[in-house]
Amino acid sequence: MRVLTLGATGFLSGAVVREAAARGHEVVGLSRTPGDLPAGVRAVHADRDDVDSLRTALVDVPRPDAVVDTCGYSVAGALAAAEVLGDVPAYAYVSSVSAYRDWPPGPVRDESDPTFGPDADVGEYGPMKAESERVLRAALDDRVLLARAGLIIGPGDRTRRLTSWIHRFATEERVAVPEHDVPVAFVDVRDLAGWLLDMVERGVGGPVTATGPAGMTTFHGMLEACRAAVAAEGGDPAEAVPVPEAALLEAGVEPWRDLPFWLPDDVARTAWDVATGRARELGLPSRPVEESVADAWRWVLRTGFEHPPLDERLHPERLLTRS
Ligand SMILES: NC(=O)c1ccc[n+]([C@@H]2O[C@H](COP(=O)([O-])OP(=O)(O)OC[C@H]3O[C@@H](n4cnc5c(N)ncnc54)[C@H](OP(=O)(O)O)[C@@H]3O)[C@@H](O)[C@H]2O)c1
Repeated sequence: MRVLTLGATGFLSGAVVREAAARGHEVVGLSRTPGDLPAGVRAVHADRDDVDSLRTALVDVPRPDAVVDTCGYSVAGALAAAEVLGDVPAYAYVSSVSAYRDWPPGPVRDESDPTFGPDADVGEYGPMKAESERVLRAALDDRVLLARAGLIIGPGDRTRRLTSWIHRFATEERVAVPEHDVPVAFVDVRDLAGWLLDMVERGVGGPVTATGPAGMTTFHGMLEACRAAVAAEGGDPAEAVPVPEAALLEAGVEPWRDLPFWLPDDVARTAWDVATGRARELGLPSRPVEESVADAWRWVLRTGFEHPPLDERLHPERLLTRS
């Protein structure tokens, strides 16, 4: 197949391009700036948010059989793609669970749960994804897959959400962790990339909540995977020191921002309760979190990807003396 990827050199886009090339597809990868692409992949450069730029970059690119759109960050970008690529046979748009109007706090029951409406502020991420879905659906109907991705983890993730936890266990002696354990779910970048290609190869359309099964692991399970990843690379992982939620909040620890993936109990209960029945029926794989975490850490060690020093407020001694 001729596969065009919008986004080519980043986290998910890089995984899609590598997998598409490995499957023997004829791949064109679009990004604004040059980056590393596998041998045989053709690079084109454009701002996909600008319809003229997109059209010009694709002028001598044969019409793709499938598009995988990993860099939809504006409604303008969806409109441009609808105009220039609205006639392709298969299109996978990477949306987000944030498109659901009531998530967080959730839960998400199935794909018919309401997404943000046209009146919501498309300057915000969730409403922008919901409106982009509508734009693409209007142009492509059931030829577009709307993959509402959950948290993506694995090698190449530059958000530091997961890797900052592993880095703490690798470099500190004691690491403060939320005391209460909750079920959590993630999707590995390689599982999602391969599945997006499966879907365009099979011509599957419609909305799909694309993440791991609810409760595939727990918060503490993810943290144990971080400690195991450190040990597997010859490190001596720090002790995990449970800190009650009240002590964390009292110390001004900001959920999610200061302790990635941590949500206060009242939100966590429903926010991680995201049903993925359609994704499972459609074969979205879910490799063990231990593998994703270990590979993410190996990527950090291999590339020297840096993490800032730990915020003083997050040392367990500080948090536990306050309570
Ligand atoms: N990460 C998560 O946990 C998560 C969760 C839910 C949904 N998502 C969604 O998943 C998708 C992939 O996320 P990601 O962080 O992995 O992205 P990514 O693949 O790292 O995306 C960046 C790629 O897109 C290109 N790009 C960005 N803006 C562009 C533009 N205007 N025109 C052309 N190329 C552009 C970048 O290259 P240049 O900068 O050189 O242009 C790069 O190749 C996104 O749609 C995101 O909303 C992510």
